[in-house]
Amino acid sequence: MSLFRPNVDRLAAYVPGEQPQEPGWVKLNTNENPYPPSPLVVEAIERMARARLNVYPDPVGKSFRKAAAELFGLDADWILPANGSDESLTLLVRAFADPTNLIAYPYPSYILYETLAEIQGTRFARLRLNADWSWNLAQNKPLIQQAKLLFVPNPNSPSGNRWSDETILSLVPPNGVLVLDEAYGDFADEPHAMQLLHSEKGSQMVVTRTLSKSYSLAGLRFGFAVAHPDLIRGMRKVKDSYNCDAISLAAAEAAIRDQAWMLENRRKIIATRTRLTQELRGLGFDVVDSQANFVWATRSAKDHQSLYEQLKQRKILVRYMKFSDETQGILDGLRVTVGTDAEVDTFLAAMREIA
Ligand SMILES: Cc1ncc(COP(=O)(O)O)c(C=O)c1O
Repeated sequence: MSLFRPNVDRLAAYVPGEQPQEPGWVKLNTNENPYPPSPLVVEAIERMARARLNVYPDPVGKSFRKAAAELFGLDADWILPANGSDESLTLLVRAFADPTNLIAYPYPSYILYETLAEIQGTRFARLRLNADWSWNLAQNKPLIQQAKLLFVPNPNSPSGNRWSDETILSLVPPNGVLVLDEAYGDFADEPHAMQLLHSEKGSQMVVTRTLSKSYSLAGLRFGFAVAHPDLIRGMRKVKDSYNCDAISLAAAEAAIRDQAWMLENRRKIIATRTRLTQELRGLGFDVVDSQANFVWATRSAKDHQSLYEQLKQRKILVRYMKFSDETQGILDGLRVTVGTDAEVDTFLAAMREIA
């Protein structure tokens, strides 16, 4: 006899990318930033650790919200700090979707959206993308119209492409909320779409951001949601009182106040991304033009899993991803995070031998 809710029994838990804890790996599998965070972040952590760990943190993270609001030219009540973007996504599901509602997301994209819908026990739907990663609006319209929550990662993962503002606006469900997941936003030519929050459909949109990628803070766990204060107020009702600890709030504020540091790492990553893309194409792979800190590489030989395994034997980790679809069959490929130049050189040298 199981004591769990039936949907928890049925759930195949979300499996994050491998995180080997021993040194010696070239780790290009979970889209972390290969460069360290700003020294000002480390100072802020040390300062907070010495000063104020005996008391609870500010439950609404006022000081961080002020800094984030300044960055995007908004008022602080448009910002909700969270324990990583993943927590923002959980809060959205908890706040907006009951079991009769439909949660939708493009497919392939971030698998966690589906897991969250399964945990909540809602209906859910995969919106099939065209083979070139564009939207098939005509085909998906009936599902978009029913959606209470529509998650759209922009840039998308695993493809790395970014959809235009016009496309995003056309996806807002008439009776629901569009969540624009900008986990990789800072690596794109247009680093965010906050202006859409002021459009006619802005009251039905939430943008989620993370410090895990562009700010090199995946180990800290910090993200934030941006939306009209009416939406933020409702989301705040369903969060833990102290969802962000004092150290992460202080570190996150220092991180976003040091834009120069983030932008310099972004510049290096984009330069390496261009080189990685060209070299993989030279080896015969199809590589999507990426606006993120990873590239999606496929080739007609379809030996992606074997390449992944051979790389792993050499202590090089990339992400082998496989998506199946009743209509389009199996789509698989390698998602390769843009590491340092040296890491990418090691990866490319191995690929030249095995590919
Ligand atoms: C599309 C997308 N959204 C959200 C996240 C989660 O970010 P965080 O580390 O802030 O939870 C990821 C992480 O890989 C992601 O790929």
